[in-house]
Amino acid sequence: MRLPPSQNAIVARRTIKQFATQPVPRELLRYLLELAVWAPNHQLTEPWRFYVFDGASKRSVAEIGRQIATAKLLRGGAEQDVAQRKAEGVAQEWAAVPALVLVTMVSDPDAFRDRENYGAVCCAIQNLMLGAQTLGLATFWGTGEVAFAPGLAELAGAGANEQVVGLIRIGYALPDAPKQSRRTQAANFTRWIDPAE
Ligand SMILES: Cc1cc2nc3c(=O)[nH]c(=O)nc-3n(C[C@H](O)[C@H](O)[C@H](O)COP(=O)(O)O)c2cc1C
Repeated sequence: MRLPPSQNAIVARRTIKQFATQPVPRELLRYLLELAVWAPNHQLTEPWRFYVFDGASKRSVAEIGRQIATAKLLRGGAEQDVAQRKAEGVAQEWAAVPALVLVTMVSDPDAFRDRENYGAVCCAIQNLMLGAQTLGLATFWGTGEVAFAPGLAELAGAGANEQVVGLIRIGYALPDAPKQSRRTQAANFTRWIDPAE
């Protein structure tokens, strides 16, 4: 039996946190979002919403990152000036990400449908990330405090009926960005029920 090469986009994709300053052309971002919406979604609810920050708007995201970092540092006992300096570094990191896509799902009052919709939006994000991989772009799906900050949803103009699923960073990886990960073989999580196997 001939199997496809394992070094394809699925296996080669890695979470990348260090990006080159090179911007991501909007044409590519649009292409990735068009791939995202081909995710399976039960009853075609199309529950995903995308909010793209790829220009000056990133400064506002960075400001949210700064505020969150400052508060956290102060809570941890840091001096005001130390907290400000470190938070400035955090803000600069956010501003330097070439493109940020806030992905939300439209909530459904029915818990079962809501769960299905969450699954569909996760599939959409994976579509986007695998598409990015094939274009030589790197991604990072984040669910940290900035992603869930009410100020970010407000900045995006997300509806009150939407829940954040992830804040996706997209850019060209720095050549020396760490690309290590590991997986346990699927066989360890699999039971073949058919005794003839
Ligand atoms: C739903 C979800 C949320 C994640 N949130 C974070 C995050 O907040 N911070 C982070 O460093 N990585 C986050 N990740 C990335 C994982 O840490 C990463 O996928 C994992 O380490 C495996 O590495 P790989 O993506 O290179 O295979 C998230 C991944 C998923 C699927």
